[in-house]
Amino acid sequence: MKLLQIALMCGLIGGIVGLQCFFCTDGLGDTSVACRDPFNTSTTDPTVIRQLCGVGAYSCSKSYLSSADMSFTVRGCVDSSLCPATDGCTSSEYQGNAATGCCCTTDFCNGAGSMSMNLLTTAAVGLAALFALY
Ligand SMILES: *[C@@H]1O[C@H](CO)[C@@H](O)[C@H](O)[C@H]1NC(C)=O
Repeated sequence: MKLLQIALMCGLIGGIVGLQCFFCTDGLGDTSVACRDPFNTSTTDPTVIRQLCGVGAYSCSKSYLSSADMSFTVRGCVDSSLCPATDGCTSSEYQGNAATGCCCTTDFCNGAGSMSMNLLTTAAVGLAALFALY
């Protein structure tokens, strides 16, 4: 019984400590080539931070925007309320550029090569990640 209680407590604490996500940006001044796809999840690049989202309803996100003259990638924690779908991506137009945003809810899932995708508000997720940074 003691072991079971300890196991339950560890699970509980794990849930309280919260989600971990990769956090990095590329293409907006802070150029982190390591942030781009294909993403190396074992990268030791100092511009890629392993971020603890904190207590609350968070998801890991990955957003990218590309056009002829610019592209950027943002990965990080976002409030889950910005993700209409729990696990997924959506593509949309953002100021005339193609933008894609994804959310997922397992540790470091935003480093995965292909995230399963549903619709969400791409620009909001990308901007929220940026605001979290600055
Ligand atoms: C990923 O990063 C690690 C640590 O820097 C490196 O050893 C490994 O070769 C990299 N893998 C790829 C596919 O680049």
